[in-house]
Amino acid sequence: MDGFDLVIRGGTVVTASDTAVADVGVRGGVIAAVGLELGRGRQEIDAAGLLVMPGGIDSHVHLAQPAFGGPAMADGFESGTRSAIAGGNTTVLPFALQGRGESLRQAVEDYHRQADGQSYCDYGFHLIVANPSAATLGQDLPALVAAGYTSLKIFMTYDDLVLNDREILEVFDAAGECGALVMVHCEGYDAIRFMTEKLERSGRMAPYYHAVSRPQTVEREAAHRAISHAELTGVPIMIVHVSGREAMEQIRWAQSRGLKIMGETCTQYISLTAEDLKGLNMDETGSKYVCSPPPRDRPSWDAIWNGIQTGVFQTFSSDHCPFYFEGEMGKKNPKARTGFRWVPNGIPGVAVRMPILWSEGVVKGRITANQFVALTSTNHARIYGLTNKGALAPGYDADIVLWDPARKVTITQALMEHGADYTPWEGFEVTGWPQATILRGEVVMEGGRILGRKDGGRFLPRAVSPMAGRMAGAPLD
Ligand code: URP
Ligand code: ZN
Ligand code: ZN
Repeated sequence: MDGFDLVIRGGTVVTASDTAVADVGVRGGVIAAVGLELGRGRQEIDAAGLLVMPGGIDSHVHLAQPAFGGPAMADGFESGTRSAIAGGNTTVLPFALQGRGESLRQAVEDYHRQADGQSYCDYGFHLIVANPSAATLGQDLPALVAAGYTSLKIFMTYDDLVLNDREILEVFDAAGECGALVMVHCEGYDAIRFMTEKLERSGRMAPYYHAVSRPQTVEREAAHRAISHAELTGVPIMIVHVSGREAMEQIRWAQSRGLKIMGETCTQYISLTAEDLKGLNMDETGSKYVCSPPPRDRPSWDAIWNGIQTGVFQTFSSDHCPFYFEGEMGKKNPKARTGFRWVPNGIPGVAVRMPILWSEGVVKGRITANQFVALTSTNHARIYGLTNKGALAPGYDADIVLWDPARKVTITQALMEHGADYTPWEGFEVTGWPQATILRGEVVMEGGRILGRKDGGRFLPRAVSPMAGRMAGAPLD
């Protein structure tokens, strides 16, 4: 047998299940061997003192999403995926968003045009269903699932995206038929509108009131409703970006009843609080932290850790959803300054997801390095049908992050490589940082330098999720 293209020598290989000092041999972009004293490679990397882990898979990022008349996103595929590899990721799953009057197929075609030749890392598409018509659910969705777009997101809030209960049930049922995995944004639309209008009438307009307008109660209620609809239709769901105890306990309750309900949480829910939305003095700097659901409080961080440690959450994502802060299109644009309801929702975070989870989780003894790998890579691959990703074993894509577990870094905008003009984590101190990112055997980031190409990433058609389909014993069985 020929030698290797690349050998990563003498690092500590960490997977979701094991930790061992070993060499990793790569041939043709694929892992060919993991073992001791492997033969020479044409390229050799000395990984002594580093951890060798599966490249990060961030299954919840928003790039180049249509703005519906609001401010445009700060990241298209080029800058968003550049930021992803700077943070140790090798695959991202952004969303092809269907506009109300648009077909799902059209949304996917348009999104491919945005992504083609513009991605530093591999990528697949989730779908966002905003128009659950008979044609969308009966024709487009099954065809797209068969073509590798095997997951979709629906929203229980936002004017342009909200689905009513009947529509949610129709989507779940259709997903059960064709094997799509449904991700649900759980926040109750009517309750948020009620709260928003009450706050506005009493003159409470600052960014902080974004958090007041959508407390955990609205997230808990929506999570419970989504779980009930999932049970009724017998369709597994993933409840995304869970922010605190209330929704987490709903998922735990559902899981304890044997329902296939999965949970995702994100960086902001272990590291930011609603106090950040107060800004310097209830001023517009608080808008830098406006996202939905909003960050909560320190007791909520503890609840999220409990959910991570006890397996309520399977995935840890960034929900990278970047907007500028300054300028006409920024989070403090003139309209946004008139009230929190106009501040674009979302924060940039794809580059800091892995360092913050490592630092707050592994370094502080809350999770093991193996759990870190499961939460940042392996579980994303398994749940979303990325069959060649998320593991360091022969036959898998050689997507690898070389991790310096002891490096201390102060997070700052200059390290982010994203399009936004700020990071919500400016000044946040972490221990642990990616030293190099390797995409299918090519070093695409080393020591903070981007070495990859913007056409280096590939589109990934995905398999049907092993979690999708119908739960046994559903009422309509
Ligand atoms: O504020 C957020 N998270 N915006 C992104 C869209 C979403 O709901 O995930
Ligand atoms: Zn969402
Ligand atoms: Zn999101």
